[in-house]
Amino acid sequence: MQDILIHTDAGITTITLNRVDKKNAFTQAMYAACADALDAARADAAVRVLVFQGDATVFSAGNDIADFLGAPPTAQDAPVFRFLRTLAAFPKPIVAAVCGPAVGIGTTLLFHCDLVVAGDNAAFSMPFVNLGLCPEAASSLLVPQMMGYHRAAEALLLGEPFMAEAALEVGLVNRVVPPTEANAVAQAQARKLAAKPMASLLETKRLLKQGQLAPVLARMDEEAASFGRMLGEPAAREAFTAFMEKRRPNFQGL
Ligand code: COA
Repeated sequence: MQDILIHTDAGITTITLNRVDKKNAFTQAMYAACADALDAARADAAVRVLVFQGDATVFSAGNDIADFLGAPPTAQDAPVFRFLRTLAAFPKPIVAAVCGPAVGIGTTLLFHCDLVVAGDNAAFSMPFVNLGLCPEAASSLLVPQMMGYHRAAEALLLGEPFMAEAALEVGLVNRVVPPTEANAVAQAQARKLAAKPMASLLETKRLLKQGQLAPVLARMDEEAASFGRMLGEPAAREAFTAFMEKRRPNFQGL
């Protein structure tokens, strides 16, 4: 699968989003490849840390909109939801390097990473409402916890992008660096983590997340049920068709 590159070296599995011509938009096959890579990394005792990265220009434009039209993920066992559940429950440390657009799941997957390094060109957005959809990845639970209610409402109801410095201020990212350095800084953080005692890393992450996993998984399921239903409704169909036709959507009456 050329769109997702998986490389393991010195205890670090790196997942590189590699569909740059489509701004790393996720297809169902890409979610499945990521979920499989997470399962393999979890099971392999030699893997200590996971890294997600794009390149210096783009992290991800979110779900592939042609896929939303042609193969909408309406069932709970769809690859996107399997990926999200596997990510949320992943026991080892995850570092992400994010540059350029991080749209939809490109932002929400970061809530399930432990350290996030952003290029100063990173632009985060969760435009679910603008697509006739609702939040996913437990973002309706985690964004208000992280940013406070009003900033969460702004991010999720208006869906406008916010830049790396704003993400740093609300605690979504750990540090902001020049885009060409983001992947290297993430790898350096991953190497630091990989040198630490594994049992302590696992226990510390488990304790940090304790009490959170069950509500996160329950919220993901609730969101997925609504999201799956809304994918077939007129507002979403109009939004997706408008994107494919490179025009503004018309939500009048919807
Ligand atoms: N699904 C499918 N194709 C996508 C895509 C997506 N989510 N995002 C970008 N692409 C495609 C474009 O259609 C275009 O394809 P083409 O070259 O065949 O015309 C190509 O990727 C480049 O995208 P473009 O929009 O020209 O790049 P840009 O730099 O001007 O803008 C974005 C980048 C990410 C801001 C913009 O592409 C965008 O808003 N994408 C949609 C994001 C979205 O709503 N995602 C769903 C979230 S749930």
